[in-house]
Amino acid sequence: MSAGDSSRKVASGMRPTGRLHLGHYHGVIKNWVRLQHTYECYFFAADWHALTTGYQDTEEIERNTFDMVVDWLAAGVDPGAATIFIQSKVPEHAELHLLLSMISPVSWLERAPTYKDMQAKLSDRDLATYGFLGYPVLQAADILMYRAGNVPVGADQVAHLELVREIARRFNHVFGRIVLPEPQALLTEHARMPGLDGQKMSKSYNNTIRLREPAEDIERKVRTMKTDPARVRRKDPGDPANCPVFDLHQVYSEPETLDWAARGCRSAGIGCLDCKRPLIEAINAEQNVMIDRAERFRDQPDLVHAILQEGAEKARGVARDTLEDVRASVGIVHG
Ligand code: TRP
Ligand code: SF4
Repeated sequence: MSAGDSSRKVASGMRPTGRLHLGHYHGVIKNWVRLQHTYECYFFAADWHALTTGYQDTEEIERNTFDMVVDWLAAGVDPGAATIFIQSKVPEHAELHLLLSMISPVSWLERAPTYKDMQAKLSDRDLATYGFLGYPVLQAADILMYRAGNVPVGADQVAHLELVREIARRFNHVFGRIVLPEPQALLTEHARMPGLDGQKMSKSYNNTIRLREPAEDIERKVRTMKTDPARVRRKDPGDPANCPVFDLHQVYSEPETLDWAARGCRSAGIGCLDCKRPLIEAINAEQNVMIDRAERFRDQPDLVHAILQEGAEKARGVARDTLEDVRASVGIVHG
C-alpha cells in the first residue's frame, strides 16, 4: 500500500454524545461534506469511545447515535458518496485495537493531555480504567484500519492525532515494514467555533445553537446575546473585537456585511439589534436546509438503519483486508 493511496482516503469519527450543534458543523462536519465527493471517506459513530467515559450510564448511547447520524445526514453527509457506519458494527476495530495495544507504550497514553484533563473534569466518574487509558489506541485502530491519510477533526483532537501517528510509526518500525500509513489532521477555518458567549461553543458551557434548532429559538438566542459591554446605550460606540456577536458574524457573513457591522459598531451608526439581524437570517437560512433534509430520515428510521447497515458491510470489507496484512506483519496467521 503506497502513501499515494492513503492520501486519497479520509476517516473520521464522533462520539455519540447527543444532538450536534453549530460547533460540530463548522468545526468538523463541513469538512466531511467538502471532502466526501473527492476522497474515499469513512465516517463513523464512535459508540465504544462513548463507553470509555460513560460505561456506567449506557441507556442513551443508541438514541444519541441515531440522533447524531440524522444530524450528519441533515448537514449534507451523503451516504451515496461516503461510507457511514457505527464503530461497534465493525468489530474488526477491536482486533486492530488489541494488536496495536501490544506496541503502545503506557507512558505515551498517560501523557496524552486529554487523559489527565478528562479525569479531572469528570471527577464524579471512575476513569482509572484500562479502556479509558486506551482511548487513543482505539482511535488509532479506527483510522489506521482504513489506511486513511487524512482525518478531519476539531482542534481538540489534534493531540490524539499526533499519538495515532506515533503508534503507526512504532507499529511499522517494530514489524519492519510500512503496513499502516501515518495520518494527518485536517482542520476547518473555524476549528474553534465561538459560542453565544464568546467562549468555545460547547454543550458544557450552555452556549450552543443546535443543528436544526427552530427559527424562533435561534432568533431568541441571538437577540439575547451579550454584546460589547462598552455599548451601554445605543449612542455609545463599540468595538467589534470585544463582541461575541461579531465573532459569529465572522463565521456567517460576507465581507460587505462584516464591514457594515464593524463600521456601524464603531460609529454607533447601527444598534446591536440591527447588527444581529443579518446574523439571525444567515443562521436560519443554513438551518432551514438541514431541517428539510432531515425530515425524511426522522420519519423513516429504517432508512437510517439501512444506510448504517450498508456502511458497516462496506467498511468490514476494507477492514478484513487491512487485518490480513496486519496479522501477516505481526506473524500470527496460522495458515
Ligand atoms: N475522539 C473523537 C472525539 O472525541 C472521536 C473519534 C473516535 C475519532 N475515533 C476517531 C475522531 C477516529 C477521528 C478519527 O470526537
Ligand atoms: Fe456587537 Fe454588533 Fe453591537 Fe457592535 S454593533 S457591540 S459588533 S452586536
